[in-house]
Amino acid sequence: MEFKVKTGNPEKQRSACLIIAVSQPRKLSEAGEMLDKASKGFLSTIIRRGDMDGRSGQSLLLHNVPGSLADRVLLIGCGKDKEMNEAAFIKSIGNMSSALEDCGASEAHAYMTDIPVKGRDVAWKVRQIVLQMNHCRYQFEQLKSDKGDKKKVLRKLIINIPGRSDLVAGEAAIAQGIAISAGTSMARDLGNLPSNICTPAYLAKQARQLAKGQKKLKVTVLEEADMRKLKMGSLLSVSAGSRAPAKLITLEYKGGKANEQPVVLVGKGVTFDTGGISLKPGAAMDEMKFDMCGAASVIGTINAVMAMNLPVNVVGIIPTTENMPDGLATKPGDIVTSMSGQTIEILNTDAEGRLILCDALTYADKFKPRYVIDIATLTGACIIALGKIPSAVLGNHQGLINDLIESGKQIEDKLWELPLWDEYQEQLKSNFADMANIGGRDAGTITAACFLSRFTKKYKWAHLDIAGTAWKSGDAKGSTGRPVPLLTQFIINQI
Ligand code: BES
Ligand code: MN
Ligand code: ZN
Repeated sequence: MEFKVKTGNPEKQRSACLIIAVSQPRKLSEAGEMLDKASKGFLSTIIRRGDMDGRSGQSLLLHNVPGSLADRVLLIGCGKDKEMNEAAFIKSIGNMSSALEDCGASEAHAYMTDIPVKGRDVAWKVRQIVLQMNHCRYQFEQLKSDKGDKKKVLRKLIINIPGRSDLVAGEAAIAQGIAISAGTSMARDLGNLPSNICTPAYLAKQARQLAKGQKKLKVTVLEEADMRKLKMGSLLSVSAGSRAPAKLITLEYKGGKANEQPVVLVGKGVTFDTGGISLKPGAAMDEMKFDMCGAASVIGTINAVMAMNLPVNVVGIIPTTENMPDGLATKPGDIVTSMSGQTIEILNTDAEGRLILCDALTYADKFKPRYVIDIATLTGACIIALGKIPSAVLGNHQGLINDLIESGKQIEDKLWELPLWDEYQEQLKSNFADMANIGGRDAGTITAACFLSRFTKKYKWAHLDIAGTAWKSGDAKGSTGRPVPLLTQFIINQI
């Protein structure tokens, strides 16, 4: 879809649909007041009658509004002004998106940047409109025969901004929004694909395709034999039970100076997690196709960074495998040696994410990283602790953690920090090896991060647990593309 910024009075716009914000109780926005004046009180009369009180989620479509050159006027309820915040703004855009699709206009002109969001400027609102519109309009239909039965009709959205002085910033916001949306959609597609299509080899192929014709992106794929040479015994213990060979994908984006240390993103790429010999229960097991969403977010972020041609160096590392039960699969109690030399007693083969990540994190050191951030659907405990609103962040460098949290706030892709205190390390004690791969029932997200912290001592590191945020269950089941927005924002902030 096409987006444009423009400035001008609503009554002067020739458009298929003008969009006007209404807040509670029965209050027209600035642009709404202008249009009301031109229509000699048509809008305020309707609102006064009680057809629309501005509640969040409400919308009202009007035709033939006097004094207007538009075919339609769509009123969008935004809730109370004093309750307006980032999340409420985004919700209003979602409301606008569905009302717009229903009305059948192929073009629209939105006056939504006059909604007051405390601390947020016009450019922020423009970017968020682009992100949210693209998010709402996303469809995953590649595997349905009856494509396009819910075809989207809107082709072009003009985003009105109050003054000409914001035009340049508005256009930049659109470009960023489009790039981040494209990265997010790509991550969503990869997440939504089933594990019989989206295998480790498929992820490697997608990464290679991304690099095709791109001078700044180099992709390398290590095979199991290469990993064996590197002594990645922990990663290989997870793929031991799978017919689909594991891969270690590296994407090197060089937009910055040759000697500038890269931000390294490490994404968990378990294309299906059965639990292995410690088999998971059957209910909702299909959702374990999403266990590669960390990997997908790395690919999506690098795509976004590349689309913006950002002057930074970013490396993506993706350990990818299935976790399957089999005669050759790793068994509870087995002890493996990781690339770092530390030995691990695998007490539960379902705690496989950390086993592939630890070798990838050891490998990451060769890129002389400025920061290493790993992204993983790592623990069900994270959903118990934080639900599905924020991703969890833990790490060994408070500055990095704070910057990530701040980036998340900037783009409304939130993080919440959990403590990575030494006291928790005890839970990983093993009678037979350097450590166990599980830490018992208590604080599961923290002990998983404790495990990873033993492999990240050489650099500044943060871990994002996205188990609650990478996908949705239920009727709206599907990948969210999170945390591509957060990661991209973080990289933008590095410039
Ligand atoms: N991929 C899962 C984590 C997960 C489970 C994410 C459910 C989202 C929803 C991970 O590999 C796993 O199985 N973790 C175990 C760890 C446990 C065995 C210590 C878990 O969370 O139960
Ligand atoms: Mn598991
Ligand atoms: Zn898993």
